[in-house]
Amino acid sequence: MSVLETKNLSKIYGGKGKGISVKALEDFNMSIKSGEFVGVMGPSGSGKTTLLNILATIDSPSSGEVLINGQNPYRLKEDDLAIFRRNNLGFIFQDFNLLDTLSVKENIILPLVLEEMNRKKIEEKLDSIASVLNIKEILNKRTYEISGGQQQRTACARALINDPAIILADEPTGNLDSKASFDLMSSLGKINREKNGTIVMVTHDAFAASFCNRIIMIKDGKFFTELVKKSNRQAFFNEILDALSLLGGGYNEVI
Ligand SMILES: Nc1ncnc2c1ncn2[C@@H]1O[C@H](COP(=O)(O)OP(=O)(O)O)[C@@H](O)[C@H]1O
Ligand SMILES: [Mg+2]
Repeated sequence: MSVLETKNLSKIYGGKGKGISVKALEDFNMSIKSGEFVGVMGPSGSGKTTLLNILATIDSPSSGEVLINGQNPYRLKEDDLAIFRRNNLGFIFQDFNLLDTLSVKENIILPLVLEEMNRKKIEEKLDSIASVLNIKEILNKRTYEISGGQQQRTACARALINDPAIILADEPTGNLDSKASFDLMSSLGKINREKNGTIVMVTHDAFAASFCNRIIMIKDGKFFTELVKKSNRQAFFNEILDALSLLGGGYNEVI
């Protein structure tokens, strides 16, 4: 069964007397099964962030449907939507969005403290996610005392500590150097394999994408093609590079 599905999803910005309208997404269909690690790629302006924001219930579609665990979040009332989001979705952004007045640990457990979870349970969850992400040694540090890669893994831990059904990431390696990107992608791969986390990640980076099991490519707001990993990551990386050259659209200018 799919945990995430879009049906003829379209998004038009502007229009209706607000100047020029832009079709950011057009009749976009996809279906993602539980435990998949899916990358979304496409040239700059192809609608990747729009898609992710709609899946994240941050931005509403102009037409079509989003189903998360069979439920359309856009049919929920505002209060119910907040609960739905908290229970089902985890977000990782390009900017880490950490609070620098808090320690690494406090940043990670904040969502659980806010929902008044039992302290012992919080410590257990923290311990588990901090080991997967290899940040146990820095839990008591402040966010300005750690590297960019460690900050992103901290943000990742915060997104994942709730065990969300779906993890949504928009260019999570965008601000990282190649070593930190490798570490983050390895961690996401581990979360996918060991915790059976479903991940949807937007990226323009073929290296980061090679950690996924499937890549959906979009162009001009429409489905373009799809690649499925068959063997090892190196072979998949090469396959992604070939597909990107077909995608065109000034792919080298992306971000
Ligand atoms: N808030 C907005 N208002 C108007 N146009 C937008 C807005 N957000 C994105 N767009 C336009 O929609 C298209 C898709 O943008 P986006 O989803 O950000 O693409 P990508 O993430 O693939 O670079 C682009 O043409 C962009 O200029
Ligand atoms: Mg974008």
